[in-house]
Formats: sequence, C-alpha cells, structure tokens
Amino acid sequence: MVNSSPPPPGSHLRHTPRALPSRADPSETLASARTTAERLSLISRHLDQRLPLPELNTPFSTERNSQVPDDIEYKPLDRSPTPPSSDPPATSHHRQSSSPAVKMSAQAPHPTLLIPGPIEFDDAVLQSMGHYAESHVAPGFVKTFGETLTMVRKLFQSTNPSAQPFVVSGSGTLGWDFVAANLVEKDEDALVLHTGYFADSFASCLETYGANATQLKAPIGERPSFEQIEQALKEKSYKVITITHVDTSTGVLSDIKRVAEIVRRVSPDTLVVVDGVCSVGCEEIAFDEWDLDVVLTASQKAIGCPPGLSILMVSGRAIETFKARKTPPSSYYSSMANWLPIMQNYENLKPSYFATPPTQLVHALHTTLSQITARPMQERFDLHTAASNRVKAAIAGLGLTQLASKPENQAHAMTAIWLPEGLAAPDVLPGILKRGVIFAGGLHKEVATKYIRFGHMGVSITDPARTDITKAIAALQEAITEAKQAKGL
Ligand SMILES: Cc1ncc(COP(=O)(O)O)c(C=O)c1O
Repeated sequence: MVNSSPPPPGSHLRHTPRALPSRADPSETLASARTTAERLSLISRHLDQRLPLPELNTPFSTERNSQVPDDIEYKPLDRSPTPPSSDPPATSHHRQSSSPAVKMSAQAPHPTLLIPGPIEFDDAVLQSMGHYAESHVAPGFVKTFGETLTMVRKLFQSTNPSAQPFVVSGSGTLGWDFVAANLVEKDEDALVLHTGYFADSFASCLETYGANATQLKAPIGERPSFEQIEQALKEKSYKVITITHVDTSTGVLSDIKRVAEIVRRVSPDTLVVVDGVCSVGCEEIAFDEWDLDVVLTASQKAIGCPPGLSILMVSGRAIETFKARKTPPSSYYSSMANWLPIMQNYENLKPSYFATPPTQLVHALHTTLSQITARPMQERFDLHTAASNRVKAAIAGLGLTQLASKPENQAHAMTAIWLPEGLAAPDVLPGILKRGVIFAGGLHKEVATKYIRFGHMGVSITDPARTDITKAIAALQEAITEAKQAKGL
C-alpha cells in the first residue's frame, strides 16, 4: 500500500490500528491515555512543519508538560531488613542507602537505565569526558579524532577506501538532515519504509528539504514485505530508499541486507539509506558487503557514548551522487561539501576546521570504540542476540507478548512489550522504577499507553560484571504482579 498523495497535517501518523484484544477500560486507564496522548502530541509536533508553525517543541517543554511516565520521581523500594525493635525508626536517608540503586563502580548510585537509549555508560567512557581542555586542531586531539574515524570504519565492517565516516556534533536526527540536504534535490522521490514512529519523522525531514517522500507502511509490529518493496521500486524511480533498521517505537527489525539486494537488482541507482540509530553496535551491519550507501546513527545507544554525536558511514556512490548535484546542498551546517574535507583531513592526521568538534565527546567515542573494536564485531552481535533471547523468553514466561510478534521482525537490543489487558504504562513503570530500573513508555501514537519498552544493549549486555538484565526481568515481573493486584485483575 503505497501512499504518495500529500497527507493532511498529522495524517501520516494515522495507521490502521492493530486489532487489539478487548481490554478493561477503567477510568484511570482513560485518564492515563489522555495524559499519554498529550505527551505524545508534544513529542510529535515537529512532524507538522506547515505554517503557521506549531508552538515550539523543545525537550524542555516536552519534559515540563509531561506527567507520567517519563518524569516520575524515583522512590526506591525499601528492601532493608526489618530493624530490631530497639533500633530507632529508619530515616529517609537510611531508606535511600539501602535502595536497589546499586553503586555502579565509580558512578553515583542510580537506577539502571534500560530504555532504548541513552543507555548505561562504562566508567572509562564517562571518565574520558573529563579530559583537560585542548585545542581542536592540536596534534593530540587530531590524533584522537583521526583514530576515532578509523574505528568507525571497523564498527561498520567497512574497508572500502571510497566510503567515508563522518562524526559531527549533533544527534541522530542530524543524520536525516544530512541525507535530505545532500543526497536528495527538490522534487526528487524518496521511498520510506515504515515500521513505526521514526519513519514518519524521517519522511517529514525529507519533505522539509523539498523531497517527495512516499511511505510504504506496514501494520504495527510488522514491516513492509519484500514483494511490496520490489513492486514499489518497479513503479517509480526513487533517488533514495530509507529503512529504519530497528524502529525504536515498535522494536521492529528490518532485513536491510535483503532490502539492499532487492534495490540493487530492481533499481540499482537508488541510494540505500539506513537509519541505524537503534541498531549500530548491536545488530549485524556489513556496510561494504551489503552494498549500503548511508548508515546514520547516534552516539547514545548501543555505541555507549553520551548523547551529542551524529555518526554516519557514507559510500563512494553516495559521495559521487552528492558531487553530481544540480543545485547546491540545502543546508549549511550539514553540507557534505563542508564536512567531507574535514573528515578526510582528520583521518589523515591533518588539523582542519569547519565547525568546532565537541572535543570531550570525541574522547568518549574514542574510548568506547576502542573497547568495541578490540573484540570481533560478531561476538558483540552474538552477545546481544543471546541477551535478547533471554529477555524474550522471560517475557513469554510472564504471559506477555511483543509488538513485533514474528521472531524475524524482532530487534535484538530492545523489546516492545504489550501490557496485560486492563493495565497501562503508568500502572507499571513506577513499580519498575521503585525496583531500581527505568524502562520507557510507548511511543507509537496509536497504542502508546498499551505497551512499554525495555532496552537491552551496550554495557548492560557486554559487561559480565553487570546484573542489569536479571534485575530488570525481576522488576518487570514484580511490578506487573503488583499492578494487577492493585487493579483487582
Ligand atoms: C530509529 C531512530 N532514528 C532516529 C532517532 C533520532 O535520534 P536522536 O534522538 O539522537 O536525534 C532515534 C532516537 O531515538 C531513533 O530511535
């Protein structure tokens, strides 16, 4: 079902709702559904870029206006042994110190962050952010940045010298702007494979720069079939096809290898662009072998670096497409013309300047990439698969199901979990937090109150000293039981 006519504002968010089992409808659930709808409408406002523009949607305004579940206060469960009767009553300080907020090595005690990004950080990565001030063109930093770019190649399993890694100050979203501003010209066509919220946003970004974005949509939890993709590519010539490798709103994994094969067979000039924000560092990606053109990602998910870096791998074919543009790129900051020589220079250990790089973040990225690339990438993918199997088995054991119902559609570093009938995310997330774990609420507009998201990636998986996943599974189980009891279910 290709949908190419221009949608009315916000309508590209409307999907055929998945047929859900009938659910109990207590008034609290209705109230929480309203709150979630308000929260999501704030999060989604940027998708409508028509004039007059909507009220500014900044992270601050979103946070300030959200009630539950994202900004609930952390009140740890008191697991301290009952004090002997002669002891003075426990003070709140006592309770705090015996909370399940385990002290993670050098870090202050905190609940374990198991949302699908940002994730828990390794101590060494955090400590590299404390690097002393240095010039961004001094030899020491140039070496750090150059090595970092070379390690990005390893992260993508790429050895082709015509491909180029980019590391730019910004977040994952900047990668969309980079693609839209450099690789597509006004009125050119883009095919956007839709597996959740993030495809709507990518399509909106492409349209902001004047492209015609056609979304190929699948029902919630599914992905467009290979036959539909092939058919769409045969019907029209597309400049780019975009695929969200893992849609963080649904936990749906796409088979980018198969899609790239179809594109090369049916429409060889179409650039294959992968949104790998929730997949790079945890799902297998072989950039050269699979003949991909762009994989864009961000620092804060499976790469395990604090947020603030937009990271891209761009093929020689995509660079040539950029060079052949008929019109100048439609952005200054994200222009490939501005960044390409900078990245090439740094990698060749030559100082260079277009816009100041975030030096401390680059140190953090250097540290985490040194750790990641010290081991074979396949080993890292296997660890994430094993952890995912464990999480998914535990969820099934609790009688719960996933948005992505087919095993081949399921991401390996996060799970989107349907809640039992009669429970909404705000009934469960505070109970999980009380047990020292943070999960995320739903993000898919149609069903946001009905599911929660569990991120299982990065050091929580690769550091054998951590017990994050065991703790999270227990917290989920207890919180669901508690919520069901509270509702008399
Ligand atoms: C799949 C996907 N794409 C893009 C983004 C946008 O990245 P950022 O929030 O870093 O701008 C996200 C964020 O979670 C994402 O999950």
